[in-house]
Amino acid sequence: HTYDLVVVGSANADLVVRVERRPGAGETVLGSDLATHAGGKGANQAVAAARLGAGTALLARVGRDAHGRLLADSLGEAGVDTSALLTGGAPTGVALITVDPDGNNSIVVAPGANARLTPEDVERAEGLLAAARVVSLQLEIPLDTVAAAVATAARNGTRVVLNPSPPVPLPAEVLAACDPLVVNEHEARFLLDLAGDPAADASSASPEQWAEALLATGPRSVVVTLGAAGAVLADATGAARVASPRVEAVDTTGAGDAFTAALAWRLGLGESLTEAVRLAVRVGAAAVTRPGAQESYPTLDEVAAR
Ligand code: RIB
Ligand code: NA
Repeated sequence: HTYDLVVVGSANADLVVRVERRPGAGETVLGSDLATHAGGKGANQAVAAARLGAGTALLARVGRDAHGRLLADSLGEAGVDTSALLTGGAPTGVALITVDPDGNNSIVVAPGANARLTPEDVERAEGLLAAARVVSLQLEIPLDTVAAAVATAARNGTRVVLNPSPPVPLPAEVLAACDPLVVNEHEARFLLDLAGDPAADASSASPEQWAEALLATGPRSVVVTLGAAGAVLADATGAARVASPRVEAVDTTGAGDAFTAALAWRLGLGESLTEAVRLAVRVGAAAVTRPGAQESYPTLDEVAAR
């Protein structure tokens, strides 16, 4: 394999303001100065994996603008292969992010060029997907494009990891290819609700039950991330929980992307789901201790030193 991991996904400029509290409808609040960070779930995953030492490429689209250059620089510095970073068609995607004093964020994304990453772009990059151990996907690009990447990966025997974020109803053939489907609590509930599963009711179901119920919707394996509480994994052999190290959260933005990247990389190297999740929770925990997404991601040495 030429690549441990090929990520097909979004690249955004993250425009971040820290706030004491989020404004309600019709309300204005003053926040911190603006910080501009390289982000986007796809680019985040690619940078996280490359920084850990994975041979990584990203198929994504940015605009011919300053935000696009910010992303190309961040990817290049981390050592991501950017031969499939396409440019033009629309301005670079932008994420408007507020971060509260607990390090929690809310995000609105203007997709821009991400919405112009097409199934044809994926077809042209078939060689890239065929040369990867794992293809990792999220949902900030068109669903048709994700479906094309899943079909291309399947045709070439490449393992698929999907984080359905932000969540939408998924075609059965996309769900069936996921190994694993990686969801947080919101995404788990969204997908279970769609399936009419009573486990969608958080008050009556445990994360282990969510994972088992999601597994029954088609994927080969499932991981439910629980933030500071770690993660639950489920496959045909059953469900298990992995604890997360305790850390001081500064900014959780992009921590889930780092988690998924680490997971996908280690699975591609042949680790078990449990082993891979054990590393992933430590990578995710390291990422929340620093501001921003991509610039908060640790090297493998840093993870080992913690
Ligand atoms: O997952 C975090 C990411 O979501 C941010 O970097 C932002 O760009 C949004 O895509
Ligand atoms: Na961070």
